[in-house]
Amino acid sequence: MAKPVPIPATPPPPPARTAGQVTSSDKPPMPRQETDKTLELTPDKMAPGSMLTTNQGVGVSDDQNSLKAHVRGPTLLEDILMREKITHFDHERIPERVVHARGAAAHGFFQPYESQAALTMAAPFQDPKVATPVFVRFSTVAGSRGSTDTPRDVRGFAVKFYTTDGVWDLVGNNMPVFFIQDANKFPDLVHAVKPEPDNEIPQAQSAHDTFWDFVSLTPESAHMLMWLMSDRAIPQRYASMEGFGVHTFRLINAEGVSRFVKFHWKPLKGVCSLVWEEATLISGKDPDFNRRDLWESIERGDFPEWELGFQIVEEKDELKFGFDLLDATKIIPEELVPVVKVGKMTLNRNPDNYFAETEQVAFHTGHVVPGIDFTNDPLLQGRLFSYIDTQLRRVGPNFHELPINRSLKPADNNQRDGFARMTINKGKVAYFPNSLAGGCPMHSPAAAAAFRSVAVKEAPGLKVRERSPTFSDHFSQATQFWNSMSDWEKDHIAAAFAFELNQVVNEAVRDRTMNEILVNIDATLANLVSEATGIPVNPAGTPEAPTPSAPTPSGPLHKDAAKLRSPALSQDKQPPPATLLGRKVAVLLGNGVNAREVGAILASLANAGLVAETIGPTAGAVEASGKPLKVNRAAPNAPSVVYDAVLVPSGAGPALAGWPLAQRFLHEAYRHGKPIAVTPDADGFLKAAGVPADAEGLSIGQGSPLVTEFVKNIGQHRFPRRVSVLKPI
Ligand code: HEM
Repeated sequence: MAKPVPIPATPPPPPARTAGQVTSSDKPPMPRQETDKTLELTPDKMAPGSMLTTNQGVGVSDDQNSLKAHVRGPTLLEDILMREKITHFDHERIPERVVHARGAAAHGFFQPYESQAALTMAAPFQDPKVATPVFVRFSTVAGSRGSTDTPRDVRGFAVKFYTTDGVWDLVGNNMPVFFIQDANKFPDLVHAVKPEPDNEIPQAQSAHDTFWDFVSLTPESAHMLMWLMSDRAIPQRYASMEGFGVHTFRLINAEGVSRFVKFHWKPLKGVCSLVWEEATLISGKDPDFNRRDLWESIERGDFPEWELGFQIVEEKDELKFGFDLLDATKIIPEELVPVVKVGKMTLNRNPDNYFAETEQVAFHTGHVVPGIDFTNDPLLQGRLFSYIDTQLRRVGPNFHELPINRSLKPADNNQRDGFARMTINKGKVAYFPNSLAGGCPMHSPAAAAAFRSVAVKEAPGLKVRERSPTFSDHFSQATQFWNSMSDWEKDHIAAAFAFELNQVVNEAVRDRTMNEILVNIDATLANLVSEATGIPVNPAGTPEAPTPSAPTPSGPLHKDAAKLRSPALSQDKQPPPATLLGRKVAVLLGNGVNAREVGAILASLANAGLVAETIGPTAGAVEASGKPLKVNRAAPNAPSVVYDAVLVPSGAGPALAGWPLAQRFLHEAYRHGKPIAVTPDADGFLKAAGVPADAEGLSIGQGSPLVTEFVKNIGQHRFPRRVSVLKPI
């Protein structure tokens, strides 16, 4: 086994492959933090050189003109230079991912707080001094590769660990449950949510007939619908999303003891979301919003961080819950089984090339290392088939050889050949058993780190194509989710259902969603959505929510669901973010602003770790105490929705009060619940922007007390009770 190497404090100069001279523009803006994996990638990188060549390394003297029979004549087939250039261009695309096509990724590392050897042999959890390199790709699910970052959708959260025992992929989402219980239904789910096949409309949205047709006929999706209609589906930034492995997996220790585990990623930036109107506006103003934030924060040195948590269940306790641990539509409430934080992941380096790294990275739930194993969850079992299959189609049979997918522990087996094989395997022997190569490569001895499926006793039974009766309670946890929300979170969920169902044209689909799904989750939710959509709640009653016909031995059935609550589900009840680093503040400037005060404010905001930008009518300057004061951005290009908070320094308010764009800026910040700070001379501006002087999260004052209160408010993220999104002002 290769010896684990900790992250070097000061990386050695990389032996970069160059084509000629490396230009100075190749220098990154921040010293990038290297891991074993990013150092291993270095020889595959290439900086632009000084001399243009063909793919065969032959110098090119003219890359502007094709070869013609005469200067105005036909182009010749002989033109090898043009044919090579154009044919390569014609083949630049690979199939986009069938789901999760839009994404962004970053390098980093995971470091455990202490050894978890008692629970698992998995390499990343053995030694707190050893960091395991990771590559993490975040994604939306339904949209195409060029779609917006901020639709209402699930977000993928896929982590590739380059461990000393091989690659482990933890391919999760930002929601802990899924729409379906059996992988056999996945193609149906995806066909229903993707754009409709006749006209390919709508892009990256669940708000259309086929999605609601499918889910209204699939009650097992009720719990996931609650997550999807909540603000979790419009995360503010990737760095403020939770991540979940979703399925119950197994951890195996060196003695072969197996325990069940659920994986959780907890963001140190807190769990924060956009509000729906803001998300739709961002889609137009900055469709790369999340991708840009991830990139810029890493370039600034403000590295996104998550703690990894385990929820552990002993095998003997498998049946003690009122639901089945194999059912991916269920969570284990954190109040029942606490999430124990075992380590931290830090993303500290942007990719060098989007296609080579982010597009070609190939995840597979079946990529596990010794110490991690699977359960019989029928969704997970299907995924174990699907991901390898899709990588073969999308990237090809040698996808594992691409630099971003390559294991740090070299792959060594008798698999050979196929498109674009890169390894030059030596020798005559490509089979096992063999004697001609001394039996090599041979099975790992029992003591070595090798994957051995854990021995699990399977109950005797008939081979059947059936769902376990322990999977039949579809509503309890959907109700539990609703019960656990605060007032404003319920408001947002009801508004989201209303928005989606108001997009649905088919009356039967609207009615079925109301009377077979929503009423079985909660009567208040159904009534709120009914009011906002005009879909009547059937007074004759609705089909009873199916009660589990063979519930697991103990635990609540749906009839007791009204009592179920899990405060950990509520974003409102999450602990405050551990850091405000990277939150963006707009400082609105106008002619007459107090220049000295602006300087002091910017310094205080920077001290608090905030990213402040001054915004004026143009990208030039405003007039401050008779002198020009340069601004960072022009208001038409710097919309309110891409900032976390707004501050108006003294002197600016009177000029901004009469300017419609500034009024709109401030009004949107108010509607979207953002902290606002103004000086007393901005009273006219507040009035013109429709911001009540007693609004929660609005600070009116001067100097450092104003900034202190403003920064404290930014720590609260938003003041979402200001405006009901269900009944907007
Ligand atoms: C708990 C349920 C699921 C979760 C958490 C999940 C998560 C993900 C994530 C994060 C990705 C994007 C990987 C990347 O960034 O490259 C992905 C892609 C994909 N998923 Fe799933 N998925 C789930 C269920 C399924 C099921 C049931 C299937 C099939 C039976 C499936 C098939 C796929 C496929 C084919 C891709 C595209 C992979 C690629 O081309 O790279 N997923 N999934």
